[in-house]
Amino acid sequence: MKKEIQMQKIRNYVFDRFHDDATGHDFQHMKRVAETAKYIASEENSNPFICEAAAWLHDIGDSKLFANPEQAIEEMYSFLKSLFIAGEEITQIRDAIKDVSFSKGNVPTTLEGKIVQDADRIDAIGAIGIARTFAYGGAKGQPIYHEENDNNSIQHFYDKLLKIKDLLHTSAARKLAENRHSFMEKYLDQFYKEW
Ligand code: NI
Repeated sequence: MKKEIQMQKIRNYVFDRFHDDATGHDFQHMKRVAETAKYIASEENSNPFICEAAAWLHDIGDSKLFANPEQAIEEMYSFLKSLFIAGEEITQIRDAIKDVSFSKGNVPTTLEGKIVQDADRIDAIGAIGIARTFAYGGAKGQPIYHEENDNNSIQHFYDKLLKIKDLLHTSAARKLAENRHSFMEKYLDQFYKEW
């Protein structure tokens, strides 16, 4: 099967699982991460097919999003085999996905993994990151902000978003992050003024 057809089928597989998500992990998130990963892969001379495929699939089996994560991951590997993707490539995709999570704090062991993690983190910052933070907070019933209680969406900027620029692995991602980081700082200034 041709690589373009394989990628098209991966895209459709992801669409079926994420098109109705309202927590900021929807199909458009997967699409942006896939495009960013492909871009970073070209800048860093990495494997664009592995990076893009892994980026499309990176949130499959996330325990925040799947009731039965292990089953979702098993299904995904059977699906990749059904596309006649080589065993070696499936291993590379798996290695590129397994350490993507921010909360687990793992550093991916392969360049492809670092690229996918960077691409996912780029989508967590800037204007899109801000929108996704409030969408996620709303879906989980959290307030926008609270002065005495840390369980709010503004706190998430300090717990995660503002730390991201210093945790990126590739220089291509660090360049993408600059603007987005300073935009979030301006946003917070304005937020507190209005609050
Ligand atoms: Ni993600």
